[in-house]
Amino acid sequence: MAAPGRTAAVPFLAVVLAGVAFAGVLVCAEGYERPGPRDSVFVRRLEETDPAAPEQVHVSLVGPDKMRISWITAGATPTVVDYGTSPGSYQGSATGETSSYDYLLYHSGLIHDVVIGPLEPDTVYYYRCGSFLDREFSLKTPPSSLPVKLAVVGDLGQTQWTTSTLQHIEKSGYDLLILPGDLSYADFYQPWWDSFGQLVEPLASQRPWMVTQGNHEIEKIPLIHSSSFTAYNTRWRMPYEQSGSNSNLYYSFDVAGSVHVIMLGSYTDFDQGSPQFRWLQSDLSKVDRGRTPWVVVIVHAPWYNTNLAHQGERESIKMKACMEELLYQARVDVVFAGHIHAYERFTRVFNGRADSCGPMHITIGDGGNREGLANGFKTPAPKESMFREASFGHGQLEVVNTSHARWCWHRNDNDESVIADSIWITSLSGEPSCKP
Ligand SMILES: *[C@@H]1O[C@H](CO)[C@@H](O)[C@H](O)[C@H]1NC(C)=O
Ligand SMILES: [Fe+2]
Repeated sequence: MAAPGRTAAVPFLAVVLAGVAFAGVLVCAEGYERPGPRDSVFVRRLEETDPAAPEQVHVSLVGPDKMRISWITAGATPTVVDYGTSPGSYQGSATGETSSYDYLLYHSGLIHDVVIGPLEPDTVYYYRCGSFLDREFSLKTPPSSLPVKLAVVGDLGQTQWTTSTLQHIEKSGYDLLILPGDLSYADFYQPWWDSFGQLVEPLASQRPWMVTQGNHEIEKIPLIHSSSFTAYNTRWRMPYEQSGSNSNLYYSFDVAGSVHVIMLGSYTDFDQGSPQFRWLQSDLSKVDRGRTPWVVVIVHAPWYNTNLAHQGERESIKMKACMEELLYQARVDVVFAGHIHAYERFTRVFNGRADSCGPMHITIGDGGNREGLANGFKTPAPKESMFREASFGHGQLEVVNTSHARWCWHRNDNDESVIADSIWITSLSGEPSCKP
């Protein structure tokens, strides 16, 4: 997928690859050696670029045939995107909005958001941001019908494990990426957000990246910075209005005309009667399984988890108690979560037990952040937990047709991508015994 626009990142990735070194080797209970955390990578500060140069470019879906192009500049430039289907020739042009934020002593660059379209499905577009001539980007729109391939990875961070994971995802031929929260691990130090934007740009400028928030996105400091999600909401604007949500923290969208994806917010109100709860009720009531046979839900904190990490947290226990029944009644197919830095796949479950009409729960918080892996699991594994392993990696959900999807978990075997778990999933929309 080499394309114009990613040239600046190539030397960087090469340096990272050349310099990959294991921070330590960890011997696990199973008796095989697994590498430990790797060093963080810092790309560069915003000030180090040409003030007019677009950077940290990423794209996201807006409705069935539009895309939002988001980028940052250090200086004032026009918030305009020129685009077309051949390089250097742009028939379309659109303008948008600019925002910025302050966080302690940090002043962000100018954050530009422009919605382009209508666009043809499954088509490569070339685009230029802010009339800046030296960087041309390209993106491919998702197909309008099945099959479609979704990459899923949470708790990404920005370490040398992250770069390995990103390389595997880039090679996978995916159509759209889903990130179940915990993006940059900036953890209050805002230049890390800029660095994360640089790190993911080669991928995120080419395919839609759809994200929801994790605990690392909150960045609230009582009395000092009293609002939550300042950087996240300004930098990673998602298409919430299109699904009737009034918050960037939860929204839904359709992909390939057949998969309804619901991004929930684990760190905003979810109690019965809360705005998010009422929005979810309303969103699920509008799903037509004849049109979108697949329904997939994303949260950050998992509702099912046999890892020793993050047990007993409110976002897992209380949110599950409030919302699980809604998802069950709607016959949701799969729930993806992050938060745990390991992989775990459950069978279909509801109310703590195997249930053939419940969603399959999958934890995929193993993107490669600096906190390292969550190595400890409860023993013995309960029978609902079908596969669990603490390794970095990512997942691919290939929705083949209205009834069948293939899920593969790719472990980063050192730097090689190896399928360690795979399963066929059949949509509950076609299960007569599960008809709602
Ligand atoms: C859907 O795909 C599966 C797996 O390839 C295949 O077995 C099945 O026949 C397909 N169904 C339809 C309706 O094409
Ligand atoms: Fe988390």
